[in-house]
Amino acid sequence: MVPMDVPSGTAAACNAAAPTLNASSTFSLREGGEMPIVGLGGGIFQDAESAFASALEVGYRLIDTAPKYGESEAALGRAWTTSGVPRSELFLTSKVGNVGYAAALQSLEASLAKLQTTYLDLLLMHSAVHQPVAKQPRSKLHAENRLATWKALLEARAAGKYAREKGIALQAYGGGGGGWQLWKKDPNLDLLGRAPITAAAKAHARSPHQISLRWQIEQGLCIIPKAATRAHQIENRILFDFALSESEAEAIGALRSEGPLSLYGFRDPDEYL
Ligand SMILES: NC(=O)c1ccc[n+]([C@@H]2O[C@H](COP(=O)([O-])OP(=O)(O)OC[C@H]3O[C@@H](n4cnc5c(N)ncnc54)[C@H](OP(=O)(O)O)[C@@H]3O)[C@@H](O)[C@H]2O)c1
Repeated sequence: MVPMDVPSGTAAACNAAAPTLNASSTFSLREGGEMPIVGLGGGIFQDAESAFASALEVGYRLIDTAPKYGESEAALGRAWTTSGVPRSELFLTSKVGNVGYAAALQSLEASLAKLQTTYLDLLLMHSAVHQPVAKQPRSKLHAENRLATWKALLEARAAGKYAREKGIALQAYGGGGGGWQLWKKDPNLDLLGRAPITAAAKAHARSPHQISLRWQIEQGLCIIPKAATRAHQIENRILFDFALSESEAEAIGALRSEGPLSLYGFRDPDEYL
């Protein structure tokens, strides 16, 4: 695996670093270990075991799963143990809900058993907001905690504690328009149909998906696009033989200012409340 140069933040700086990256590049984590910058989102698939088997063949080594994703963990356990890929070459991510100390430990043990492994490479809180009871509708406290967390993150960034300089990887999910495809509620959420993305897709002869993922890579993000279709799995790794121009990257970034575009409802907390 090729360690990733941590980009310094601007699109131009990332573009300059881009030729050194490829689909197998990794981010060197501060506490040790290498995290692949391109992984597979292992959400709910119709045939998860086939999707994971295909992804491992295509070359994915990071797979993001969670107890909440139905059969995903067990299917991944079966897929990797029959794939011939050694555990040491895999980077397995799973999650625990905000369920309290004892339940979190139980959840982790259950994940390990389903994944047929003795350790995880990354364990995330799913999600890092207050969720006292699984499936409970978002409460005011939930929203308040999310707002407080968001403000803490903004303050941390203003105070110079953000992740890039400290060797902490930022990983983006949903960058392939998943929320839009999942909910199809609001055409305004169809980010991949927006002019800056379709124009760049035409200019580079790439799909809107590839433009979106490439933009994220150029922002210094690690990505976990979800794809069950093998052609998509392959396409989502072909991101390193072209670069967005500075104006293309800026135009895509400016989509943020057009309103509440988040696919997952992580909107401006002030507005959300
Ligand atoms: N930590 C968290 O709280 C959290 C929350 C949400 C998601 N996630 C993670 O992030 C992952 C990705 O999020 P997401 O579910 O929103 O998915 P996404 O990556 O935004 O989009 C997935 C959808 O895009 C399609 N697709 C993939 N590649 C494509 C391509 N090249 N061209 C056209 N369509 C393509 C997929 O179709 P096919 O399946 O047919 O290929 C699927 O319908 C999840 O699986 C999960 O692992 C984490």
